[in-house]
Amino acid sequence: MSFSKNLVYYKTESEILLMKEAALLVSKTLTEVAKVLKAGITTLQIDDLCSTFIKDHKAIPSFLNYHGYPHNICASVNDVVVHGFPNSTPLVDGDIVSIDFGVILNGWHGDHAYTFVLGDTTEDVKQLVRVTKESLYKGIEKAIVNNRIGDISFAIQEHTERKHKYGVVRELVGHGLGKSLHEDPQMPNFGSRGNGMKLKENLVLAIEPMINMGNKEVFTDKDGWTVRTKDGKPSVHFEHDVCVKRNKALILSDYSIIEAAEQANTNLLPSPVISF
Ligand code: MF3
Ligand code: CO
Repeated sequence: MSFSKNLVYYKTESEILLMKEAALLVSKTLTEVAKVLKAGITTLQIDDLCSTFIKDHKAIPSFLNYHGYPHNICASVNDVVVHGFPNSTPLVDGDIVSIDFGVILNGWHGDHAYTFVLGDTTEDVKQLVRVTKESLYKGIEKAIVNNRIGDISFAIQEHTERKHKYGVVRELVGHGLGKSLHEDPQMPNFGSRGNGMKLKENLVLAIEPMINMGNKEVFTDKDGWTVRTKDGKPSVHFEHDVCVKRNKALILSDYSIIEAAEQANTNLLPSPVISF
């Protein structure tokens, strides 16, 4: 990822409210996805649903044409880590599907992602999904004033790589979010406590662990976008939009509505709800 502007933008309270609207629209879109996902549907159909839904809500898709990205959503299935192109292959039970979506609403970006499991899967995959989701919240817990970026990174890496021996992708990182999709600072999922930029109030971060069941090595397909694990093992991706606050981070996106739809859809295997 390139970060063209070398500036960190702290948002005002009214800007945070606008960003919450944008993040929430992505959450609502992912909720619509959670309602219809099942074996047989294609990720191009999901792409269409997402773009239609947000256009009805006066927003525009932010990924489409971003550095030439050719679709509205990223749909990353099984060994695809991130930036998978939606395609016309019907999904099947057992697929692990990360849907990552970004919108611009009233000039502000929302960008977040959720990984769904179709049908049923192995205990190993269930654990990978659970641990990746947990690691996101362990990172978010550190997104408070006077902590550093490295405290968030360390918490994610500690839980996934050191505790569970998963591979933490090094080539891709989370990011600041605001009037641009990618603002400073970079938000790696690996690092050291006490390192990196000190966090100040109302910095908005997209925190997005990308965690491999096997090792951390990835490669990019010939299409120039699709990032896959080298060992072919599955990878999981969760992403929240988070505002740094004094005592407890404010999560702008909302998994609760996605999780409710996931639990109501008998074609999906719900992942654990993590209280925050
Ligand atoms: N959440 C992803 C990111 O922050 C989505 C970007 S996809 C792109 O990198 F196509 F827009 F690059
Ligand atoms: Co992102």
